[in-house]
Amino acid sequence: MRHTPPAAPNRAPGIVVAAPVSDGLIAALRGSGRVARVGDDRSLDEPQFGKGLAEATALLVSHTRSVSAELLANTPHMKVVSTVSVGVDHIDVGAATAKGIAVCNTPGVLDDAVAELTMLLMLSLSRRAIANRHAVVGGGWSRGEQMPPFGSDLRGKTLGILGMGRTGRALARLATQGFGMHVLYHNRSGAVASAQAVWPVAYTARSELFKRADLLSVNVDLNSDTLGSVGRHEFELMKHSAFLINVSRGAVVDEAALIEALRTRRIAGAGLDVLQREPPSEDNPLLTLDNVVITPHLGSATVETRQAMAEMAVRNLLAVCSGAPPEAIVNPEALS
Ligand code: DGY
Repeated sequence: MRHTPPAAPNRAPGIVVAAPVSDGLIAALRGSGRVARVGDDRSLDEPQFGKGLAEATALLVSHTRSVSAELLANTPHMKVVSTVSVGVDHIDVGAATAKGIAVCNTPGVLDDAVAELTMLLMLSLSRRAIANRHAVVGGGWSRGEQMPPFGSDLRGKTLGILGMGRTGRALARLATQGFGMHVLYHNRSGAVASAQAVWPVAYTARSELFKRADLLSVNVDLNSDTLGSVGRHEFELMKHSAFLINVSRGAVVDEAALIEALRTRRIAGAGLDVLQREPPSEDNPLLTLDNVVITPHLGSATVETRQAMAEMAVRNLLAVCSGAPPEAIVNPEALS
């Protein structure tokens, strides 16, 4: 008797889209005939989210969805995790690499947006934008009351940049060319000749950076070396008049030490686009301090930049699915 082989399991390769991308890009992905699921329900915890990935071959995420080793352990067919972000700290890259899963990100298309947001935070602090707004909307200006004291110029001030990667370089360009600031920087890997060749920026030791900066911008990636690496010791080094700006990841800064430094006016203020926990709990003291400006992780969040990031992430994902090299991959060894 002829044996009929069992039907092949219905394992249609699936792209799971768990990042906000435009309808046009979803349509482009559907054009590849492989989209299995669209949308990321933020209320799903990681195990619940992971349940839907058993048949997935590709996953598109953003920085708000964590992709842990446990989650990847149950994705036997996964080839690529492509994130609509430059940061990959929400993905266990080591676990992905061990499973031969490519992790792709979107460097290069968001640097100017992040640098602009950094300037916004610096200007808001130096020109006391929040206090002045309160004085206006609270009626103080109309009533002829005393306005907040004047702020100060950025021109001529020293900006310290911790981490002269792509966003650090974009910031150095704006600060020197657009605002006439002096820029000092520190980088774990040493001086960046390409940056110094283009802009008047000077490399300095890490402790000098904290001591000399009028405004100190944190532009390093979050990893095991940088976790909590800006803390009490660094705030002790800073000028009382200095501002700390963080546009990278909240966990790079020791938030308890920062709150203490702000409360005691050890430093003058902080401009934060990122927090240790996002969104913050409603009782996070940072929300009530009058020397803090906070934006809700908006660094790359402009219409144009997010579209460019999403397009790149989709191109990366489709490239890996079709066996072509992606434009950006953080673990190329996973493909070899
Ligand atoms: C990034 O790209 O890492 C930004 O923080 C936004 O996701």
